Amino acid sequence: QPKRLADYQPPCFTIRTIDLTFELAATATRVTSILRFKRNMPGNMVLDGQQLILESITLNGETLTAGQYELTADSLTLSNAPDEGELEIVTLINPAQNTALEGLYLADGVYCTQCEAEGFRRITYYPDRPDVLAIFSTTIITDNHALPFLLSNGNKISEQTLSDGRRVVRWEDPFPKPAYLFALVAGDFDCLSDNFVTASGRSVLLECYVQKGDLPRTEFAMASLKRAMRWDETRFGLEYDLDRYMVVAVDFFNMGAMENKGLNVFNSKFVLADAQSATDLDYFNIESIIGHEYFHNWTGNRVTCRDWFQLSLKEGLTVFRDQEFSADMGSPTLNRIDAVKVMRTAQFAEDASPMAHPIRPEQVIEMNNFYTVTVYDKGAEVIRMLQTILGKAGFSAGLKLYLQRHDGQAVTCDDFVQAMQDASGIDLTQFRRWYNQSGTPELTVKQQYDAANQQLTLDISQFTPASAEQAEKLPLLIPVRIELLYQDGTPARAELLLLSEQQQQFKFDQIPQQPLVVWLEDFSAPVKLHTSYQTTDLLMIASSASNGLARWDAMQQYWSLLIAEAIKQQQTPVLSAELIAVFRGWLLQPLADLALTAELLTLPDFDTLAGQYHEIPVAALLQCLTLLQQQIAKSLQADFAACYQQITRESYQYSEQAVAKRALKRRCLGYLALTTEGENWVAQHYQQADNMTDRLAALQSAQAAALPSAAQLLEQFAQQYHANVQVMDKYSNLVAVTLSDDVFSKMQQVTERSWFSWKNPNRIRALYSAFSQRNPQQFHRADGKGYQLLADVVSKLDPVNPQLAARLLTPLLSWRRYDKARQQQLIAMLSALLAQPGLSDDVFEKVSKSLP
Ligand code: ARG
Ligand code: ZN
Repeated sequence: QPKRLADYQPPCFTIRTIDLTFELAATATRVTSILRFKRNMPGNMVLDGQQLILESITLNGETLTAGQYELTADSLTLSNAPDEGELEIVTLINPAQNTALEGLYLADGVYCTQCEAEGFRRITYYPDRPDVLAIFSTTIITDNHALPFLLSNGNKISEQTLSDGRRVVRWEDPFPKPAYLFALVAGDFDCLSDNFVTASGRSVLLECYVQKGDLPRTEFAMASLKRAMRWDETRFGLEYDLDRYMVVAVDFFNMGAMENKGLNVFNSKFVLADAQSATDLDYFNIESIIGHEYFHNWTGNRVTCRDWFQLSLKEGLTVFRDQEFSADMGSPTLNRIDAVKVMRTAQFAEDASPMAHPIRPEQVIEMNNFYTVTVYDKGAEVIRMLQTILGKAGFSAGLKLYLQRHDGQAVTCDDFVQAMQDASGIDLTQFRRWYNQSGTPELTVKQQYDAANQQLTLDISQFTPASAEQAEKLPLLIPVRIELLYQDGTPARAELLLLSEQQQQFKFDQIPQQPLVVWLEDFSAPVKLHTSYQTTDLLMIASSASNGLARWDAMQQYWSLLIAEAIKQQQTPVLSAELIAVFRGWLLQPLADLALTAELLTLPDFDTLAGQYHEIPVAALLQCLTLLQQQIAKSLQADFAACYQQITRESYQYSEQAVAKRALKRRCLGYLALTTEGENWVAQHYQQADNMTDRLAALQSAQAAALPSAAQLLEQFAQQYHANVQVMDKYSNLVAVTLSDDVFSKMQQVTERSWFSWKNPNRIRALYSAFSQRNPQQFHRADGKGYQLLADVVSKLDPVNPQLAARLLTPLLSWRRYDKARQQQLIAMLSALLAQPGLSDDVFEKVSKSLP
């Protein structure tokens, strides 16, 4: 029963105000909702509602009886509603039993909501669709003294204690919003407060609520928030609009975070940090996600989506904005490398999977399944292409027009592109195809040089393979950045080519000599590239291109090419003397950007390499990667050691320079761990570490090198940190990447630890997502045991938390990419899942799409 974009109908009724009252109780919270409605079109009033007990419904003061409305498992319909009026609906819900973590749930003593995408319907009957914008007020009542903080959206209007001892807090949000942005939190917290003065001089109270005792670990998140607020003012002229901005950290959360108006709810993993418990990557993620949710206040909240098919309107755009923010706060090159990795591993794989969809999907069974790397990250790449085509100034003007034109509205991706077109005067008709075409486009490029006429001719053709749900593909408008490199030191020349045809030629005159063309510089479009580079060309680009991303990309292509050749010839890959020389040069004289050097020295991971193959040669890829890493370690042992020792240790701080130093040192350590001296290097690094980043680096190197001492080090680590559950998630990550067959029993033991919980998504992901995504050796075992482990977890979790189950399931869907034996195992497991009684829509949609 999929919903289709083509079936969109405006709502028959709009809601002007909704006044909510919550009488909190663990297993029976009473929700009273008073709606003032107005007719918009002829038709019934259909209110969404799921898992609710209806206590009463009153229309304009008159209580309705059973015959006066129609109730189904997911709706309440009034067929004779007047054109205007007031409805009062009283429902009972059970937050304690809500393990799906959608709607209002009680976990760890905290009441918390998650309403996006369609969770509000689990709180009360309401038109739970993003194009119904209402003014919300919320009253929270409790007699529970363990809940000192009662929070909701907007401004706190009053706070009182009733004569019977119950406390009542009332909130009002002046900005009309769709129900998915509603939030309520009740619990006991420590609160870090601060203040931000906006560009126009308004003072905003900032509050960050965290678990008791965690205040010292909250400062970085707060500082990040202030940086994000300032950045949006300077880059896009966008200011915050309420007097108060609250962030609450909770440990039970299905996703990263949620941008509820004025009251963000965060997974505690993306708020809490100090040097002893968080890594450089954690710090990075906190800043970026704090930024992301803050940026939604304009791109998402002030201007929202007409329907959920338009999700990328807010998510692609907001990811793009958070990427630009992170680039400005740190290294643009490193940020771009990270974004490209996500595209080449996860997003290209999704495009090639049964779940392939355009960034604006056309049909959906369970919306939660579409919070994907395609909607988010490919969506951000599409926005980035707009900025490339329009220029930074043109893009900013377009964004400004979009926000002015549509402030307070629920709109479509077309409205966004239209604003970009109107502001820039550039025709974007063909560009719009990026919104409805799925699949990864492939470019094939050729160059010819005519020395006599000093003319360079470039030929580019594009082709998008059919995807699971869409056979026919049209040519896209693709911005292709190139750089022409000359061997003799003549300054490089940069160009932007706009490819619009299926096949197109570009000519350049006055080219003094045959250049080396750096294609798709800065990953200017989310495409795959077929070139005729030789390995020597790639080493040349890696050593001399001006763009850091291009250099890194050349190395990635170098390894892909080398490995593909070896697999084709059925030989083991061999390191060339040139490669050794290039690596040695980087190690002797690390570039100014140490973090880039670390990336240049890193081989592509299994998933990136796998992306090139229709049928993934699992064993051969893994074997090539292992052999190459060992050869590199052996050939350059002294150089890694020298580079490692040259980088001085200093006390921990999170700064671009310090992070870069640790990254390069970690890379060296990774190779040193593979040498005969491996044990010593790792033990020494671990002992000297005064922060979590370095400690984890030692443990990771030990695991990746399968050192005999790894297990013991890991246990020592677990004992030291068992009281900090966030650190224990890192321990689970490490256990899950154990290379030996022991991984199964060790993962089982993790689930038996006192801190593990089958209800907490963080605990489960830390173990099982790490296994399926970072342990290809064991996950893709020929005997299917790795797949079975994941399938069993999905089956066990589906009744508890379908959203989580469906996410964990993803790697099993791509069975077509493996050999016959693995295909049969996976089909059998997926079929068994499909036959499970009471299967959720979430898992059903993905499994049924994947089976033939
Ligand atoms: N809007 C949130 C964010 O990206 C994510 C919410 C995800 N919700 C879900 N049901 N999958 O900032
Ligand atoms: Zn978002």
